[in-house]
Amino acid sequence: MKTRPGETVHVHLTSREVAVAGAAFLLKLARVARSTPTVALSGGSTPRAMYDHLRTLDEQAIQPLRRARYFFGDERAVDNFNSESNVALAMNYFLQPLKVPYSMIEVPNGVAATPAAEVKRLNQSLRCKLARAAGGVPRFDLVFLGMGTDGHTASLFPGTRALESRAAGYVWNRVPQLKTSRLTLTFPVLNAAKLVVVMCTGENKATVLEDILQHGGTRRTRHPIGRLRPTRLVWLLDSAAASRLDDST
Ligand code: 6PG
Repeated sequence: MKTRPGETVHVHLTSREVAVAGAAFLLKLARVARSTPTVALSGGSTPRAMYDHLRTLDEQAIQPLRRARYFFGDERAVDNFNSESNVALAMNYFLQPLKVPYSMIEVPNGVAATPAAEVKRLNQSLRCKLARAAGGVPRFDLVFLGMGTDGHTASLFPGTRALESRAAGYVWNRVPQLKTSRLTLTFPVLNAAKLVVVMCTGENKATVLEDILQHGGTRRTRHPIGRLRPTRLVWLLDSAAASRLDDST
């Protein structure tokens, strides 16, 4: 495989094992962090298995999770009660059941109705509540991301303007291929993170992962997620997603 410095690939047999491994990164951060840890949660469906696993843990294990501050890597142009909402998934299956205080959750509110105002409010919150990396970029301790079959991550879709944004925060990104717009963190923030964990499962992700992790170079950077270069990047893959990777190289 052609991984970059600071990048590791963990292949697990099943998607459930990926979920348990992802949860372990969050639990460790919450347990050992000396100040309030900051976390960006991923959208899509993959995180659901991690949330399901977290809900099975005992009070002693989950208690530290309530001291972390949670943001969302991206959100769709829907309200927070819509079944398509990334916020709804985390609130319903993780944050509310585990009684994370609402004051520790930065929820995009009505972003579709007033995107400019909401982007401004969330970016102020990022600047106030996160540590800063070089250049004053807000720095997350941990960012969870997924990957679409087209190589997008967060809502940084191929060919969209946000891919080139130098804004260090959220932007409202027009996604013509979906005939919608979405709220998303930009690469300056994702790449300033101390640790990014990508959870990726399923055969339908294998071809893009082969470009990124087996071939590298322009076959990597042609995909939005291939532009990730945080201090530390961990890929948590199940065997189906990793089926086109040759782990001997
Ligand atoms: C979204 C996500 C997106 C997601 C990938 C993978 O809003 O859809 O932010 O980046 O992580 O599309 O989605 P799955 O986990 O459903 O495969």
